Amino acid sequence: MDLFEYQARDLFAKHGVPVLAGEVIDTPEAAREATERLGGRSVVKAQVKVGGRGKAGGVKLAATPDEAVARATDILGMDIKGHTVHKVMIAETAPEIAEEYYVSYLLDRTNRTFLAMASVAGGMDIEEVAATTPEKLARIPVDANDGVTAAKAREIVEAARFPAEVAEQVAEILVTLWKTFVAEDALLVEVNPLAKVADGRVIALDGKVSLDANAEFRQPEHEALEDKASANPLEAAAKAKGLNYVKLDGEVGIIGNGAGLVMSTLDVVAYAGEKHSGVKPANFLDIGGGASAEVMANGLEIILGDPDVRSVFVNVFGGITACDAVANGIVQALELLEGKGEAVTKPLVVRLDGNNAELGRQILADRNHPLVERVDTMDGAADKAAELAAK
Ligand SMILES: Nc1ncnc2c1ncn2[C@@H]1O[C@H](COP(=O)(O)OP(=O)(O)O)[C@@H](O)[C@H]1O
Ligand SMILES: [Mg+2]
Repeated sequence: MDLFEYQARDLFAKHGVPVLAGEVIDTPEAAREATERLGGRSVVKAQVKVGGRGKAGGVKLAATPDEAVARATDILGMDIKGHTVHKVMIAETAPEIAEEYYVSYLLDRTNRTFLAMASVAGGMDIEEVAATTPEKLARIPVDANDGVTAAKAREIVEAARFPAEVAEQVAEILVTLWKTFVAEDALLVEVNPLAKVADGRVIALDGKVSLDANAEFRQPEHEALEDKASANPLEAAAKAKGLNYVKLDGEVGIIGNGAGLVMSTLDVVAYAGEKHSGVKPANFLDIGGGASAEVMANGLEIILGDPDVRSVFVNVFGGITACDAVANGIVQALELLEGKGEAVTKPLVVRLDGNNAELGRQILADRNHPLVERVDTMDGAADKAAELAAK
């Protein structure tokens, strides 16, 4: 989960990374009081989860409370790289900025380690620095067990050639930022710019944090950071039901058991769709190992509630949960939905294979639901589902 800058700022403050005061607002008028609280001037900053806000006109200085209202009026509602601005942060104005640096920690999956990156050429597009002058971006692996100690921090500072007068401050910030990274179960923390200001202080003026969703269970405070307003409503409903669902932009609803099987189902449906007016998968949904009737009903309810869906492909490989249990689950799920008054009107193509496949197919044949069609091969079922969606 990516955070907004103001949320990153709050986490930095919580762990002791030096930041400036700031508060988030969503109406222009609120910019006045917020700016007054900061002593009469502020920086109005668009809160969107994308970089380059400054260049896009989403970061503006305001010398008076009135000006802050005017800048907030300009920025709220603005589109930055496809993201609409719904909130702005009214931030304390940094004393004159002398230098802008870059520091980050991230999970380096390729090298199976964590990575510290640092540069004295911060502020601007760091991707460009990495591409055109890679020698200006130090990359230091960080061992997960050792972390960033004072010695490691000094190593990073030296590798990136930070000026002597800020070396100690930057090293201290690097240690604190690592603590933030670990304590919050982050996959990325990035500060750009880390600014040296007129009075000699080094401050984080912008923050980007990405949290590891797999750590949700031990981070109860992270739920409050979710941007529920911009979440896809189907994804939000699926999440509330504990389903592993991702909305896609096609027409064939997909249910499968096991993430690998579902991923390959997306591929075969996309392939089959090329012959049927280009229909595509409408979603990813993995109902996992123990596909009970209730889980199947929950999954079907989400998928059938998607107005883009025109057919559904249920692709199950029976393992520990055998196909007869899954078939019963499908039958009961349809009854559950119809019992709730949710008439099922979209065709379902069901492919069962693996443990007790014959028994499962027999259960579906006996039930003989008018909208359920059995196809026994994965490619054949994908083709049928695509054909039905194209109708
Ligand atoms: N509180 C602040 N006070 C003064 N200048 C700021 C402040 N916040 C950001 N800036 C300036 O605006 C630039 C862009 O802001 P930043 O928050 O980094 O947004 P982005 O990276 O999305 O463009 C920074 O590099 C810095 O020069
Ligand atoms: Mg920035």
